[in-house]
Amino acid sequence: MAEHGHGLLLKALRERRPEWLERKGIHVLEVGTTREQLASQDSTRVIAEFCKEHGWDFTTCDMDPANSERARELFASMNVPFKAVTAKGEDYIKSQRRAWDVVYLDAYDFDHGKHSEERQERYEQFLGSRIDQQACEVMHLEAMQGLNRAGRPRCLVVIDDTWMVKNKWVGKGPMAIPWAIANGWDLTMAEEEYRAIVFEKRPEWEAYKRWARRTGGKYKRKLLRQPMP
Ligand SMILES: C[S@@+](CC[C@H](N)C(=O)[O-])C[C@H]1O[C@@H](n2cnc3c(N)ncnc32)[C@H](O)[C@@H]1O
Repeated sequence: MAEHGHGLLLKALRERRPEWLERKGIHVLEVGTTREQLASQDSTRVIAEFCKEHGWDFTTCDMDPANSERARELFASMNVPFKAVTAKGEDYIKSQRRAWDVVYLDAYDFDHGKHSEERQERYEQFLGSRIDQQACEVMHLEAMQGLNRAGRPRCLVVIDDTWMVKNKWVGKGPMAIPWAIANGWDLTMAEEEYRAIVFEKRPEWEAYKRWARRTGGKYKRKLLRQPMP
């Protein structure tokens, strides 16, 4: 069986941010809370246990209140002060500034054509329509766009359910990936066995934005629309 995206998240943290493992107060966000008791979908518990072990802060966000409620019960049973937010992840990210060091994006499902009627009904009830591939790609694009503001410097992001077929990205990331590469993020891991990818915020991007801001007016707007040299 393939590995899970949250497995890649822990691997990326051990390999790319080993110094953070010794540091308290790292802020982690998951978008797409665990919804079903399946061995393949246990990211909320796995990430919560990792954060507890390292003295980190953890928030999980989902559009479905039943998933948030289950996460709150899990956090209570673990005796941790972690938060479960019910919201569209892209909206929640947009509402924050410099909030997270680590983000796991595993929200709006990609359309593989085999989602249960129960899942489809939850989408109809809380998002107003059934699962749609374009809506999935746009949601993950908007989440990445929001992270330019809501991510802290050196922010590390994993997008789950994303891989390449014949040189084309499929799954959740086809819109988010090209946008992120052109707007301050490095794609540093893309592992077939996890079907997930890792983005890291370019350290010089913050300085570039500050400099562009100082130049002001029309020139600034033009610069911020262009990919970083
Ligand atoms: C693939 S499941 C998450 C699985 C979970 N990460 C795990 O591995 O256990 C996707 C979740 O995203 C949620 N979702 C869909 N669209 C969303 C959105 N726009 N914002 C937040 N959550 C969303 C669904 O309710 C569902 O619970």
